Formats: sequence, C-alpha cells, structure tokens
Amino acid sequence: MEPTINRGLDGIYIDTSQVCHIDGQRGELIYRGYDIRELANKASYEEVAYLLWHDDLPTRTQLETFRQQLRPHFAVPPEILEHFRRCPLATQPMHALRSAVSMLAAYDDNPDEVSLNNVRRIGLKLVAQFPTIAAAFERIRHGLAPVAADPELSIAGNFLYQLTGAKPTPAATRVMDVALVLHAEHGANASTFVARATASTLTDVYSAITAAVGSLKGPLHGGANTEVMKALEAIGSVDKIERYVLDILADPKGRVMGFGHRVYRVLDPRANVLREVAEKLAEESGESKWFEMSLEMERVMDREMEKRGKQVKPNVDFFSASVYRMLGFPADMYTPIFAVARISGWMAHLLEQYADNRLMRPQLVYQGPVGRRFKPIAER
Ligand code: SDX
Repeated sequence: MEPTINRGLDGIYIDTSQVCHIDGQRGELIYRGYDIRELANKASYEEVAYLLWHDDLPTRTQLETFRQQLRPHFAVPPEILEHFRRCPLATQPMHALRSAVSMLAAYDDNPDEVSLNNVRRIGLKLVAQFPTIAAAFERIRHGLAPVAADPELSIAGNFLYQLTGAKPTPAATRVMDVALVLHAEHGANASTFVARATASTLTDVYSAITAAVGSLKGPLHGGANTEVMKALEAIGSVDKIERYVLDILADPKGRVMGFGHRVYRVLDPRANVLREVAEKLAEESGESKWFEMSLEMERVMDREMEKRGKQVKPNVDFFSASVYRMLGFPADMYTPIFAVARISGWMAHLLEQYADNRLMRPQLVYQGPVGRRFKPIAER
C-alpha cells in the first residue's frame, strides 16, 4: 500500500496533550480550559506560566511561592554578557538568544537529567532568564550596561525595566503582560513541535529549547512579527498599502507577512485582542500611523482573499508588530519578545514529553534512484 504523505505534517496528531486546545473553525483558544480572551484580560504572565505547568490557576499562596522560586534566577552568568560584548555589532537578537540558551547548559550543575523535578527546575531558570538575556543583548549592542532585575517587579515589569533602565508605568507593564499571556502557548506549533521532537531523544532541556528558539526565528513562524514591521516601514504610508498587497498577491507563492495560519480558518482570537491593544495605544500615544496602516492592510487582504475564496486572516504576529512599535521596541526585538513569552509553553510541553516519552521518528517516501553500481573515483 502507498504510504500517505502529509507534507508539513498537515492534519497529523502526534500525541495527546492537556496544555492547550485550538478550535480553528471557531477561532477559539484555551489554555487548560481557560479562554485566552479572559486570561489576557485578567491574568498576569506568572499566573499563566503556572497554569501551563500545573492543572489549574494558582491560589494566592501558590502564586507567591512561584514568584519566589523565580526570583533567584533572573541573573545570567556574566560569561554570557561577556559573549554578547564580543559579538559582531550586526548580530541579530534571535541568534544571540539561541546561543545564550545553548551556553546556559555549561553553567548548570545538572543540565542533562530529564526527571520532571529537574526539568521544572530548569524551566524556572529559563522563564526568569529569557527576559534578562533578551534585554541585556539589546542594551549591550547599543553600548549600554545591562540592568539587573528588580526582584519586586513582575516578569513583564522587569523585562521593560531591564530594557529601558526606567521603572515601567503600570499601564506599560499591563500591555506587556497581555502580550506575554497571548504568546505563551499555542499547541503543536513548529517551535513547540521541534522542542518535543528534540526532547524525544531524551536529550536535555537546553538542547530542546535551543532548537525551539531556532525554529521560532523563521519568518513563517515567530519571525513574522519582525517582517510585518519591516514591511510597514518600507511601505511608509496608508495610501501605498494597496499596491504593496496586490504586488505580493500577483505571485501565487507570495505571502503577506502576519496573515494566514495552518489551523485557524477564522480570525486568530489573539489578533483580535492585540488589535484592541494597538488601537488603545495609538489613541493614547497619538502615534496612529502603524495602526492605521495595519487596518488598511487587513481591509485590502480581506477583500482580496474573499475574491479568491480563501480564508486568510491576520494572525498573532500582525497587530503585535504595531503594539511593540508603539512600546518603543526595534523590529528585530519582536521575535525575542515572542520567545520570552513562549518559553513557558515550550516547558509545559517538555514536561509532558519527558513524562511519557516516545521517540519521534517519521519516515520519508524515497523517490531517488536504486541499484546503482559503485564506480571508483577515477572512473566518475
Ligand atoms: C505563527 O502554528 C502556530 O501556532 C504558530 C503561531 C504560534 O502561536 O506559535 O500561531 C505563530 O507562527 C503565526 C504565523 C506567522 N507567519 C506568517 O505570518 C507568515 C505568512 N503566513 C503564511 O506564510 C502562512 O499563512 C503560514 C506559514 C502561517 C501557514 O502556512 P500553510 O498552512 O502552509 O498555508 P499555505 O502557505 O500553504 O497557504 C494556504 C493558502 C494558499 O493558497 P493556495 O495555494 O492553497 O491557493 O492560503 C494562502 C496561500 O496562497 N495564504 C496566503 C497567506 N497565507 C496563506 N496568501 C497570502 N499571504 C499569506 N500570508
């Protein structure tokens, strides 16, 4: 019998999971049963990280304990900061983050044990250290000294503080929290799959997360948020959006960044929340250009996709670009921010994978030649 090939693993279920469910027809997303819209409106990133690793949301005491467990881990080994100082100036932040995660294994006394306790211990470190690493690299490449975390601040607050050196306003911290909650988890997306597939050889957490960071960086995945802003910057004004979109769509292989999704056939619910956040920031800051351009791009894409009978809507990376722009971040930091959020989701999946592991080992249908005779090199 001919094997069935599902290119891009489209429609393939690799295991069961308790962490997250996406209903792509209805545009619904739940983390352990809780609707993402409610979590984005009401929960902090720490509450959500706890939820992803446990059965339920934390009580007040559990949350305080979780925060205390994170606190000692915000600092990163000075050797990593030293490495950043030696990186060529043009080093992209995602390359820096990926290398730093890999280096962290060398400074961990017990990097290889994949017992659930040890995986959780490393997970706490990584959740605390990702914002420190991303912020430190951003400062160092601009010739600024890294800022040590303030143990009194939340992850969202600390990330802003470590980036800017100034204590963030409650409003900015809240926006950051919403962005982190929305990006924390999303089922068997490419980087989470990569993390689980890597862990399925029973290699260590650092290897699995290093691979996941590399996967997230791609423009078809988390790297799309950077590409969205690069496109908006290159387009420059609302009146040029239509031409830009039509030019891309003229090529059947053309893809407008920030649109489309493998699972959603209707609007990604995270894009809706981020659209509202972007609108509010645009009103408050008076800097409405990026939001207006995004709305126009959405309008033209809606019209063009409807004409073509396709269901291609904005995804999480589309409005997050204008949100981050209005928060003052450079475009190449958008994907590291995604990683700062997604580390908790990756870790939730590694806990599941190590708890009940089976090696992931798919096959390929061979279509190359057979029966060739070896020729000595002098005869080829
Ligand atoms: C993320 O999976 C996750 O959960 C990921 C994520 C997460 O939280 O982890 O949600 C985060 O990665 C969001 C996606 C970010 N990527 C982009 O914004 C890049 C642009 N998007 C596309 O390249 C694309 O939509 C993908 C990669 C997201 C999905 O790719 P698929 O499922 O392989 O779909 P496809 O490229 O084969 O497109 C299917 C159809 C095509 O038409 P047909 O050939 O069938 O006639 O939809 C059209 C495409 O023409 N289409 C687009 C489009 N996306 C899909 N057309 C124009 N622009 C687009 N962006």
